[in-house]
Amino acid sequence: MSSRTVTSLSNPTVKAVRALHLRKERDESGLFIAEGLKAVTEGLETGHTPTILLHGAEAAHPLLAKAAAATLGANGEVIEVTQDILAKVSRRDNPQAVVGVFRQVFAPLETIQPQAPGCWVALHRVRDPGNLGTIVRTADAAGCGGVILVGECCDPYSVEAVRATMGSIFAVPLYKASEAEFAAWRNGWPGSVVGTLLSAGTDYRAADYAHPALILMGNEQQGLPPQMAELCDVNVKIPMHGRADSLNLAVATGVMIYAALA
Ligand SMILES: C[S@@+](CC[C@H](N)C(=O)[O-])C[C@H]1O[C@@H](n2cnc3c(N)ncnc32)[C@H](O)[C@@H]1O
Repeated sequence: MSSRTVTSLSNPTVKAVRALHLRKERDESGLFIAEGLKAVTEGLETGHTPTILLHGAEAAHPLLAKAAAATLGANGEVIEVTQDILAKVSRRDNPQAVVGVFRQVFAPLETIQPQAPGCWVALHRVRDPGNLGTIVRTADAAGCGGVILVGECCDPYSVEAVRATMGSIFAVPLYKASEAEFAAWRNGWPGSVVGTLLSAGTDYRAADYAHPALILMGNEQQGLPPQMAELCDVNVKIPMHGRADSLNLAVATGVMIYAALA
């Protein structure tokens, strides 16, 4: 299945894959790591072919053979590696037996066709990769059109974020925009724009989620700043009954997505 076997950590391909833990390397190469046969297969099934496929000696599965054939067919590299290399690549003691390197995809805001899906998600300055990955997974599960990253956000293609998507990284279109770009583009949005604010007076169940509904979520620490909240048709609050002063961003996004689609 493999075109070759590598046992040295100083192999240039292995070094290049390990370097993808760094944002600078991901930004420059436009590549990212997806771990596990399930994620790699998700990639293939949604039209993404690995540029590099690493696998352990014991990894034998018809889906791996398929992924290897697709990778080689697209002039990629398929390499059998040691358990030690897989552990170093994954930075885990119990690494997945298969690691794929894929090309990142960000689409321009202007290419959004909002008609069909009922809900879209915009995240302002999201900071936590686990939250971002969980939101992408939730957006996929709920059938959202895509996730728009507004302002300086964490990288959806970091290893942590991709892990948290559980394979949905390949299924959900991602968009990036500055605050100014988002503000200008929002004017052409054909449906509702619903912001989320802890200080809002409107209960999230009372809002009009005219489709396509665009849900705008705030940063984990600061929340949504006034200039972003002002871009929304309405800002809503999910009631807080206990002593917690807010919900986790990914949980709040899940609640909002399903409310918008109800
Ligand atoms: C952890 S909260 C931010 C808390 C921040 N200290 C604040 O005052 O806004 C992160 C984001 O999750 C959403 N969120 C969390 N709890 C919410 C709630 N009860 N109602 C509406 N949105 C909420 C909002 O988008 C918020 O900006």
